[in-house]
Amino acid sequence: MYTEKVMDHFNNPRNVGIIKEPTVLVQVGDPHCGDSLLLSLKIEDDHIADIKYKIYGCGAAVATSSIASELAMGKSLDEALKIDEQTIADALDGLPAEKLHCSNLAAGAIRGAINEYRKAFPPATTDAET
Ligand code: FES
Repeated sequence: MYTEKVMDHFNNPRNVGIIKEPTVLVQVGDPHCGDSLLLSLKIEDDHIADIKYKIYGCGAAVATSSIASELAMGKSLDEALKIDEQTIADALDGLPAEKLHCSNLAAGAIRGAINEYRKAFPPATTDAET
């Protein structure tokens, strides 16, 4: 059974769409079920200033993507990198065991987007670090 929070995010998914002129745009998919997620981020001052996504997937994928977007909004990139499958499931008050893997889509997309951004724009090192 799904929790009330899962049903709420499934019925009213937050932050759906694609950011115009995103800083980074990634697509991730689950080869087993065929579901996929297109994630766009606006990154400013090493923080997620905006996050939007389009999800083509099951109900749990919709709910996990929605809550993940809320968890990531406004976070520093380092904080957002800590959002994993368990963080997402906990924020939804749990997911059925057979649906836990659905949170991989959003968690993987956020990590992938940040890693891609950091490859393109490596964090500046200060004199103290060199
Ligand atoms: Fe594919 Fe849920 S069954 S993400």
